[in-house]
Amino acid sequence: MSEAQRLVLEASQVVTCPGGAGPRRGEAMARIGLIENGAVAISGDRIESVGPRDELRTRIPDAERVDLSGHVLTAGFVDSHTHAVFGRWRLDEYELRCAGLPYMEIARRGGGINASVLDLRERSEQELVDLSRERLRRMLQHGTTTAEVKSGYGLRLEDELKMLRVIQTLDAEGWIDLVPTFLGAHAIPPEYRDRRSEYVDSLVREMIPAVADSGLAIFCDVFLEPGAYTPDETRRILEAALDHGLVPRIHADEFESSAGAELAVEFGAASADHLGAVSDAGIAALARSETVATLLPGTLCFLGHGKFPPARRLIEHGAAVALASDFNPGSSPTVNLQMVMSLACSQLRMSPAEALVAATRRTGRQRCDWATGVAAWKRVLPPTWQCLGSRTIV
Ligand code: NIG
Ligand code: FE
Repeated sequence: MSEAQRLVLEASQVVTCPGGAGPRRGEAMARIGLIENGAVAISGDRIESVGPRDELRTRIPDAERVDLSGHVLTAGFVDSHTHAVFGRWRLDEYELRCAGLPYMEIARRGGGINASVLDLRERSEQELVDLSRERLRRMLQHGTTTAEVKSGYGLRLEDELKMLRVIQTLDAEGWIDLVPTFLGAHAIPPEYRDRRSEYVDSLVREMIPAVADSGLAIFCDVFLEPGAYTPDETRRILEAALDHGLVPRIHADEFESSAGAELAVEFGAASADHLGAVSDAGIAALARSETVATLLPGTLCFLGHGKFPPARRLIEHGAAVALASDFNPGSSPTVNLQMVMSLACSQLRMSPAEALVAATRRTGRQRCDWATGVAAWKRVLPPTWQCLGSRTIV
């Protein structure tokens, strides 16, 4: 590696996450390192060293330097739950929501996820690539360097594969790391409204095997909630997912408790997401497991739900907790994980250090880790520098 490829970023504070790989739980959720007047030296796409600025100046005297005085330098954010591929925004639902109509009721009236499905089916793959690229670029500008992205607005094989190929295409462009999830069980599609068991049959017999064969997805997710999928349907779908080598995840206990967290643990799911109504038994099960409790406070805030997941109890019982945006066209229109972290502190009573760990650090079976995010610094500069320009985070 030549000297010319070296870059040293000098910031007022460098936040690190010492302590080796593996999940963070309990008190360790708040364990971060803080280097005042710190620096990070990068060679090509590798972090060479991290330490006090003066030390790195002496050790690496002739590298190109970037002055980030007044800024905090952290790992890139890992947004582990997004629905970033979609067509139009569902702005029409906002007024209904303000008038007091609940999210699931709007869905029953033809809005919600199925409105996005009808829209996405009409769009070409290239159009979705172009629309999604712009949104993911904004995500990157807000500091996210790795994002999980779900399908789930196609709900028929050709359109689900179309979504997954969009994710693959954008990941291959290389400026953001994307991790794909198949979410064919997001809603019952309109054409199966009166014959839902046939749709579950087609998921299990046709779609999951085909998606697994395509190699386009790592995870298989289910929206388990009254009005979406039942616990029995979720079981059938996740059994098929496991049979075909896809790793389960569950949208669990978002508004009402369906013992979704417990089911996620039973299936060895990578994550149980939302958890606005998780039960005590669900918290205990998560605490004993490798399943990551992924909290999405942006959604419940945007929906005006007035109730947030019990982050403190999850952490105190020892569950591995992650924060994500749930970025989607209807219930969480934000790419801004910094805002999500801020909600986690003000509404969920997480400490800033816990929020930062939960938005960056590899926890349990999430695939993305701290090092991945840090390594992406060089590729995404300069927008990320700008957006991390706050000294108040720790
Ligand atoms: O995680 N709850 C289900 N899925 C998404 C919402 C997607 C949508 O409304 O389009 C969620 O909140
Ligand atoms: Fe979601």
